[in-house]
Amino acid sequence: INAILLGPPGSGKGTQAPRLKDRYCVCHLATGDLLRAEVASGSDLGKELKKIMDAGVWCVRVCRCRLAHLPPTRIPRWANGRQETCFSLSALTARAMPASMLKRGPAETDVFLWKLVSNELVVSMIEQNLNKPECKNGFILDGFPRTVAQAEKLDEMLETRKQKLDSVVEFGIDDSLLVRRITGRLFHPASGRSYHEEFYPPKSPMKDDLTGEPLVRRSDDTPEVLMRRLGAYHEQTKPLASYYTKKGIHTWVDASRPADEVFNNINTIFENAK
Ligand code: AP5
Ligand code: ZN
Repeated sequence: INAILLGPPGSGKGTQAPRLKDRYCVCHLATGDLLRAEVASGSDLGKELKKIMDAGVWCVRVCRCRLAHLPPTRIPRWANGRQETCFSLSALTARAMPASMLKRGPAETDVFLWKLVSNELVVSMIEQNLNKPECKNGFILDGFPRTVAQAEKLDEMLETRKQKLDSVVEFGIDDSLLVRRITGRLFHPASGRSYHEEFYPPKSPMKDDLTGEPLVRRSDDTPEVLMRRLGAYHEQTKPLASYYTKKGIHTWVDASRPADEVFNNINTIFENAK
């Protein structure tokens, strides 16, 4: 199966995805987890990503500095009410950015050429990961696509790869239920498994059931950051529901139900989609 899990922060995508992955022998690609792995690596790019993720805003802009050796600089510049961040070129080339992004455009300003890259960044991350052997039987995407632009990129990518999407499952849940889910979440970074101190406590406190490794709280799991993440979801991601409805592959599940019930409902959807 090739599927997308679509839903607001805390709706349960990361809870269902590892189970679905085991059930269907497909890979689970979560852009949030991939980005957090970059942050954990301590790279320059990771440091900048952390600021953005902890702010609850996902928009990244990258400048083409004329002085490529400049250290990462923070240039306050307001567009659409957002502060943008400038990376050093070295941090970018370390990520093997597509050449098109690094092309010098017309000298609009003397110092910087701005280009929106958050889409390119996550799209190239997904593209690289889809080549892994675990994805041979199919994939579950979690946290991607997040914008219509990302969805269009994904369509292009799948067309080139001669693959098609079978199902897009939207996790429907009222915003008011998300605060408790997010503030009680306990997370196992290595596997992407989520627990909840109240709803799904681990067998021993703060330890992953399978590996015994410590559980952590995500740095973006505060009520304030959640509000901004939710705002971004309604503004940028929610429109994907109608994008995929038009393609006839969108289905809705009630994500406020217990996790086992949500899992069974998704299985029924997948059986009908294949
Ligand atoms: P990401 O990691 O994708 O975060 P998110 O979308 O905000 O979603 P969450 O992981 O918070 O929620 P979830 O649905 O997985 O919930 P979970 O299953 O853990 O992204 C993080 C950041 O990275 C973004 O804000 C952005 O900055 C950046 N980013 C990521 N992708 C990007 C992209 N494509 N483009 C640009 N930027 C990107 O469940 C939550 C809690 O609830 C858990 O404790 C769980 O145990 C509990 N729970 C789950 N199901 C149930 C249930 N049925 N009943 C009761 N409790 C439940
Ligand atoms: Zn998640």
